Amino acid sequence: MALHILGICGSMRPNSSTAYVIKYALAAAAEAGAETDFYDIAEHQLPFCDGRQDESTYPSSVNEFKALIRSSQGIIIGTPEYHNSITGSLKNALDLCSTEEFEHKMVGIIGVAGGGMGAANAIGHLRTIMRGVGSWVVPHQVSISHSGKIFDGSGLLADVALEHRLKKLGTDVTKYARLFAAGVLDIDE
Ligand SMILES: Cc1cc2nc3c(=O)[nH]c(=O)nc-3n(C[C@H](O)[C@H](O)[C@H](O)COP(=O)(O)O)c2cc1C
Repeated sequence: MALHILGICGSMRPNSSTAYVIKYALAAAAEAGAETDFYDIAEHQLPFCDGRQDESTYPSSVNEFKALIRSSQGIIIGTPEYHNSITGSLKNALDLCSTEEFEHKMVGIIGVAGGGMGAANAIGHLRTIMRGVGSWVVPHQVSISHSGKIFDGSGLLADVALEHRLKKLGTDVTKYARLFAAGVLDIDE
């Protein structure tokens, strides 16, 4: 069975730095043998989650988003740090989902901050949220500070250490997702 790893970007900004670094981690997942896909919340018309009983009455964009997650074994989620947390658009997208989508999925998290303190709060909150929907968040995570300075003049990552951290995230999510998919970890016992 081909392993699917999905990237989800929580930035609504064109030319998002978060989107770029997620794609970098996805490239490492592809190198590790996974098929990858990228979901940009900015490009889809997801409605606000209103907690309705009959979720089938949401627009089809919701079902498409959920189906994409269900068909993935691993997910790499990236968020800009907004006021010491994740973006509202990402939180809303995750609120539209539940354990039905995320339980037993391997998740890697990336936070991108404009300031010098990094995205520790955003990724801490994201880790808690993802545990809340039953996913397995890998221990390795990536927090990026000074997002405006991470690229060199040609638009590539300027920091080799950051490249390694992103690569490890993509590789780890793929490696552990493969263990789950192979049934090595019998989690329902
Ligand atoms: C509403 C808003 C709140 C923000 N809050 C923070 C913050 O608390 N800490 C920080 O370091 N940067 C903050 N930023 C800056 C973003 O984290 C930064 O611009 C980030 O790179 C955006 O990611 P993107 O390029 O993927 O859109 C904020 C930006 C916006 C628009």
